[in-house]
Amino acid sequence: MRKKIVAGNWKMFNNLNESVTLISELKQELANTEVNCKVVICPPFTSLETATTLLKDSVVEVGAQNMFYEDNGAYTAEISAGMLLSVGCKYVILGHSERRTIFGENDELINKKIKKALASGLIPIFCIGETLAEREGGVTEKVIETQVKKGLEGISEEDFKKIVIAYEPVWAIGTGKTATPAQAQEVHAYIRGLLTSLYSKEAADGTVIQYGGSVKPENAKELLSQADIDGALVGGACLKAKSFTEIIKCA
Ligand code: PGA
Repeated sequence: MRKKIVAGNWKMFNNLNESVTLISELKQELANTEVNCKVVICPPFTSLETATTLLKDSVVEVGAQNMFYEDNGAYTAEISAGMLLSVGCKYVILGHSERRTIFGENDELINKKIKKALASGLIPIFCIGETLAEREGGVTEKVIETQVKKGLEGISEEDFKKIVIAYEPVWAIGTGKTATPAQAQEVHAYIRGLLTSLYSKEAADGTVIQYGGSVKPENAKELLSQADIDGALVGGACLKAKSFTEIIKCA
């Protein structure tokens, strides 16, 4: 039985003070909420240590939005897995479409990062998804297949079992356009089938596959009730404690 994971990707929002405020509001909301899923927030690097400190005895766990694959060295502005662990991070988002498109990250780089995260004991939230042009061109499955195969290249089944996958159609991110529950379920089922062929049915059945792309309280329930949708990676709607909590309730 897979336990759903609802993760909030704060992106480049909230300075330190704003982060403290949002986290305390979230704690208040969750104090009166029955939580039946795992909850993760991924603030910017500058708020990570404060987040893990404030959430010490809470159900909410903390993740980063990116990392580099080297331990240390002359890599100006990069952050290592060890640095994330040292401030109490448990998860790290890797391969987000904004990293791929705006910062030029490719499958090979993402693969190295996933391997490093796993070797360090961080749980990667590995993001994949097609653009609008790819969907309209009928190559969604092909794109997903390439991203999955290249992203997971050289990763053993034992290590694979620790990974969380987030399917985020690029055309649905921050656009207000959500994949319909049926559209999302179709791709999630395809991904699970792909994972079965790459690893095993047991490994694929155990993998949490989140959906992301304009998830809001209004659409979360239906999305999260699909057979192969095991949680959500939430952007915009996680910046308000109330709407993030409503989504958590749907899980
Ligand atoms: P959105 O972002 O919920 O604002 O569409 C999701 C994401 O990018 O992870």
